[in-house]
Amino acid sequence: MTLTSTTNSIASKHTFDSYRRFIQNHYDGLPGALTSVTGLLTGHEALAGRLIRPNAFDVRGCRRILDAACGNGRYSRFLLRHADPNAVLTSFDLSPRMLTRARARLHGNRVSHAVADLTRLPYADAAFDAIVCGWVLEHLPDPRLGLRELARVLQPGGKLLLLSTEDTFTGTMCGRLWHCRTYNRAELRKVCTECGLRWEREMWFSPMHRLLHLGGIIVELRRE
Ligand SMILES: C[S@@+](CC[C@H](N)C(=O)[O-])C[C@H]1O[C@@H](n2cnc3c(N)ncnc32)[C@H](O)[C@@H]1O
Repeated sequence: MTLTSTTNSIASKHTFDSYRRFIQNHYDGLPGALTSVTGLLTGHEALAGRLIRPNAFDVRGCRRILDAACGNGRYSRFLLRHADPNAVLTSFDLSPRMLTRARARLHGNRVSHAVADLTRLPYADAAFDAIVCGWVLEHLPDPRLGLRELARVLQPGGKLLLLSTEDTFTGTMCGRLWHCRTYNRAELRKVCTECGLRWEREMWFSPMHRLLHLGGIIVELRRE
């Protein structure tokens, strides 16, 4: 299926390899360092906690959890808070500096970090019971490159919380700022199904986000 969703100007002028290098440098540098500040200003630091908790994306009972493209560890923090004491969290990111930032805020022996690319994951098939993949699919030229890898490393029946920039006005503005594309919700749903990921339920940061259709595409998926 051909996607109608927008691409961004940098990605469209480059091969995926050079765009990926650009993104790695981008997050290694000042914009990556500022994600903790922007997270506080936009409320995303706190909003992450509204998604990862019992009655929302519930990771109780999941022993092997993956934070895909963990950035500064915003979602890892809540995953560790709500996971069972014997659960282990694996986190990866393309940017070594983002991993340093994540390590600085997450302590303990329940979490490990690695530099890795979402399109070539260094993990075995069915290695995880639950995955969070936040705001990274929009950095791929084709979502299937990431979704197939996520489906591969997710245990059949395992759950995935996927967050992605939507092709709305605010999403397009974010895409310009962070040099990423946006997705059309219905198209992304079809592509997820194509990759063996069942679209279980759409989520929103808050009732206000749902009402105003803000905050992007947030969905819980199940591996078929
Ligand atoms: C907007 S940040 C999101 C970070 C974190 N998931 C969060 O929600 O706070 C996007 C992250 O994706 C990482 N990234 C971009 N392309 C990637 C790829 N192909 N593989 C792995 N990580 C990637 C960037 O380095 C950056 O840390």
